[in-house]
Amino acid sequence: MARMIRLEAAGPVKIDAATWPRDDQGNPKTLWICACGLSAKFPFCDGTHKCCREEKQGRVYRYDPATKTVVSCEPEAG
Ligand code: FES
Repeated sequence: MARMIRLEAAGPVKIDAATWPRDDQGNPKTLWICACGLSAKFPFCDGTHKCCREEKQGRVYRYDPATKTVVSCEPEAG
């Protein structure tokens, strides 16, 4: 499985340790970084990756960025 993702940023996203979320004891909380490319809170995971669970090996998927639904699914080139 693979995904075609459109990203328009032309630079990095800064994650500043000074603003890192902390628990009640002041310890840094775990942050999850999006690896599926579909998160509305990119670069952080927002759970949208759950819509990728049905993807099949050997296929390339394209998603509607607003609805997070598959708009095309084609055999992987190669
Ligand atoms: S890994 Fe992308 S939304 Fe969770």
